[in-house]
Amino acid sequence: MCGIIGYCGHRPAIPLVLEGLSRLEYRGYDSAGLAFLQVSDLKIIRSEGKLCNLVEKVAKSANTFAPIGIGHTRWATHGLPVEKNAHPHKSYNGVLAIVHNGIIENFQEIKNVLLEKGYEFYSDTDTEVLANLVADELDSLLQEKYHTKFIDNAEILMHKAQEDNKEFLHCMEEAFCNALKKAHGAYAVVMLSPLIPQHIMAARLSAPLLMGIGVGEYFVASDVPAFLPYTREVIFLDDREFAIISTSSYEIKNIFSREKIEKEIHHIPWDLQGAAKDGYKHFMLKEIMEQPKVLRDCLVGRLQNKNVLLPELDNLKMPERIRIIACGTSYNAGLWSQYYLEQLGQIPVSVEIASEFRYRKPILGKNELIIVISQSGETADTLGALRLCKELGNTVLGICNVLGSSVAREADFCLYTQAGPEISVASTKAMLSQMVLLLLFAIYLGQRKNSHQEQATEIINELLRLPAVLEKTLPQLCEKAQYFAYKYAFAKSFFYLGRGVAFSLALEGALKLKELSYIHAEGYATGEMKHGPIALIDAEFPTFALLFDDEYFSKVRSGILEVKSRQGKVIALLQEGTMLENDDLWFIPKTSLPEFLALPAMQLFSYEMADYLGKDVDQPRNLAKSVTVE
Ligand code: AGP
Repeated sequence: MCGIIGYCGHRPAIPLVLEGLSRLEYRGYDSAGLAFLQVSDLKIIRSEGKLCNLVEKVAKSANTFAPIGIGHTRWATHGLPVEKNAHPHKSYNGVLAIVHNGIIENFQEIKNVLLEKGYEFYSDTDTEVLANLVADELDSLLQEKYHTKFIDNAEILMHKAQEDNKEFLHCMEEAFCNALKKAHGAYAVVMLSPLIPQHIMAARLSAPLLMGIGVGEYFVASDVPAFLPYTREVIFLDDREFAIISTSSYEIKNIFSREKIEKEIHHIPWDLQGAAKDGYKHFMLKEIMEQPKVLRDCLVGRLQNKNVLLPELDNLKMPERIRIIACGTSYNAGLWSQYYLEQLGQIPVSVEIASEFRYRKPILGKNELIIVISQSGETADTLGALRLCKELGNTVLGICNVLGSSVAREADFCLYTQAGPEISVASTKAMLSQMVLLLLFAIYLGQRKNSHQEQATEIINELLRLPAVLEKTLPQLCEKAQYFAYKYAFAKSFFYLGRGVAFSLALEGALKLKELSYIHAEGYATGEMKHGPIALIDAEFPTFALLFDDEYFSKVRSGILEVKSRQGKVIALLQEGTMLENDDLWFIPKTSLPEFLALPAMQLFSYEMADYLGKDVDQPRNLAKSVTVE
């Protein structure tokens, strides 16, 4: 949560920081702010609400050139989303400003110590505490060095800093590291100070932070799209590392040992188009419509003579059990894959919600493979689970979308999903890509065990056919989604029903509807309805039912008819060639993998519903794209 950016270079920093923030807004959007230097003055502009409010405010008050700047777009953790809590936060004496993504867990203890020393605070945030902690550390170091307390006298301090700029840079580095050593929790921070006007400092612990390496310019940011127009050369900072950036150089060191670290520069293949709306009304719609391409991209290089190639897993020992751990939509993808992994891989599989798993002292089998699924690769609970499993000695396979993310780097094995940047907060194409990768993995396990080869070949043939089928079907899905959204926009609640592979899709359909349109929705296994939920059914409580042409067809059909007998209105998504006694039928083409058509249909239904109801499709209230706090 929260997006941060810092820039040092030859371009005007203020528009660049604002532009970067606009590409990070998916990470949080309840307030925003930036800081820059005007000669030796530290200027901060902050605003409540969306980034456009900040842009307006900046346009009114800052027509200046600044070569260095930092910015922040917030998802509130400490304190209400009001201007005083928006970042950047200054130290009480105004000698530095910080933007921060994460949570300083011991902020209250630190604040108490600082309060006793006479520090004053103007916000409810943990970040302001961190800013003051750095200032306090700097104060001690300068006193030690110059044998006088002048940190409160800005004029003398600035004068000294200009005289002794190397020494001040050194002290600031030490103060920054000392403060971070005292801070527990998670942080990605960027700091700017008029005392070191050519530099910014940045550090990370359990929150994403990367550097963009340009020509005569350097960036730090929470995610690549922030600086994608300017460079695709990236360094991924690791935990406990910090960077000092100037307009002409950068250095990366360990926060604790202060030793220099040589880091590899990675080339990111994403282009700017992937992070732009491309003429679509919303990112979400664009990302749904991209799914035929995503299907193709996920298969590229993965198939040879109807065999699945996963060379990344060559050294993976065949597991006896598999445990899948994830959150939200990624969890739903994991639950969906259970059917295929057990059937094709002939391996018992359990699926867990990361936030539950990590705190219940789990007992893992010796040869149990852990699969963590995460689009962002930065979800705090999923990462916590990954780390716990590694501590327990288990092998972890990460399935994620973001190159160089924490999951990708910390897992023993990693499969990238090739969905490209997903900007809309609601996950769509990422889930489809996770499903493809998990299905390929299930076939791969079967291959290694020499089992179910015929079924695997059939699935591969169908996977190869699917991109074209989906491409052809999408216009029809859009039309139907709009029709049903308008017809059912009256609903206050919705059930989503499915059985077998459709059960997890029902959970996903319900999640999408509630997060986008704020209509209450629950996903159920069709067979569970009569164990309680059916009591809720009446003419005002509609159901979205998935009815695939599989072994459960007649049972699911009976379940739906039971709902209808209680006056329940039903949208039934079914495959051509099958039939149901119902008014609102939504046919999808016949395929042995109907999930890959049903998923976009449900995504479009939620999209249309939210758009029709006037909701903020790409940035639903209270949410953020990657949940980097617990
Ligand atoms: C779904 O639309 C949400 N954005 C959310 O449930 C998401 O899938 C979840 O937070 C997990 O994120 P991850 O895949 O990045 O770990």
